[in-house]
Amino acid sequence: MSDEQFISIQNVSKHFGDVHAVDRVSIDIARGEFFSLLGPSGCGKTTLLRMLAGFEFPTAGEIFIDGQAMSTVAPNHRPVNMVFQSYAIFPHLNVSQNIGYSLRKDKLSKADFNSRVGEMLDLIKLSGYEDRASHELSGGERQRVALARALIRRPKVLLLDEPLGALDKQLREQMQLELRSLQRAVGITFVFVTHDQEEALTMSDRIAVMSKGRYLQIDTPTKLYEAPQNREVADFIGTMNFFDASVQDVGDGQASIDAGPLGKLSVSPGNLAFSSGQAALAAIRPEKISISSEKPSGGHVVEGTMDAAAYLGDRSHFYVRVPGVDKPVAVSAQNIDQTHLHGDGNQGQVWLSWSNDAVVLLNKD
Ligand SMILES: Nc1ncnc2c1ncn2[C@@H]1O[C@H](COP(=O)(O)OP(=O)(O)OP(=O)(O)O)[C@@H](O)[C@H]1O
Ligand SMILES: [Mg+2]
Repeated sequence: MSDEQFISIQNVSKHFGDVHAVDRVSIDIARGEFFSLLGPSGCGKTTLLRMLAGFEFPTAGEIFIDGQAMSTVAPNHRPVNMVFQSYAIFPHLNVSQNIGYSLRKDKLSKADFNSRVGEMLDLIKLSGYEDRASHELSGGERQRVALARALIRRPKVLLLDEPLGALDKQLREQMQLELRSLQRAVGITFVFVTHDQEEALTMSDRIAVMSKGRYLQIDTPTKLYEAPQNREVADFIGTMNFFDASVQDVGDGQASIDAGPLGKLSVSPGNLAFSSGQAALAAIRPEKISISSEKPSGGHVVEGTMDAAAYLGDRSHFYVRVPGVDKPVAVSAQNIDQTHLHGDGNQGQVWLSWSNDAVVLLNKD
């Protein structure tokens, strides 16, 4: 077993009757990695996590953790622990008792118990809260106690199923950063389930984007955003403009495409294969398009009319009609200085421009 295959999911399927909840999935997760399973509701995230925990057994395939096959290992004998979406802490126990719950059989002295619990309280920044009852804690504090309780026996792997789902936006964002630094501090491998793409991008070393029991792409957050491998991933992560294009010529690391109303472009095909004459999609992120009310002098420029604008404080979103393109083109601009473009959805004439490396070329599935 190498550190790269600390968790090795090998061709695993899980069927419930006719439902293929997980369908022939193979994923290797490295020791100490923060790995996320991201995808829409029903795509199989929880089912995959529950198979790692041993609450479900695969219909086919095998899971290895730290070199050991899990097929005959019961949940309580696996080197894993799980944290759930709801704050699963015991209401009748105080913070110390909750965090130290799994130590009760170890017959530790009071001093040893307090020191083990104290370490965890330090880690989750709740020192001094030892005697608080669970109803005296906020939602975020309760979830931190649940984390400490899962971590106190130092499992090799922590499985987290939407652990921040019940928190409001501000607390959730704060907890994302705290959870990430806590994971770095303890060095335990985290497998984290979420359907929130921003959350996955913020926290993960790598993400598997899942759909219908399979994964579409496994990559770092940057690669998933900058170099999606197919339309579904490009659409699921962030916002993307898609334009029909035909591939004219494929050369060394460059492809010439004809993107109709956008004109002819020379773009990088990344690591995807294209052939001349093939129908494809040119994809461009909203923030990679510059917008101006005066025609820029150089670069690739397309003319359009403003369809709608939304002012979001730090940035504005514009929707621009370009003749020959059916959907308005989405453009996002940072509001660094005040210009007359911001906030008004007038029907004025605008120019859009971008650089060639802003364009991602995708297969038209
Ligand atoms: N015990 C079960 N019996 C039958 N079908 C199940 C069972 N558990 C899950 N499923 C089905 O398997 C599929 C995947 O479910 P799963 O809970 O893994 O999705 P998920 O990605 O975690 O979704 P969510 O984001 O809503 O939590 C769904 O179609 C679900 O209805
Ligand atoms: Mg789920």
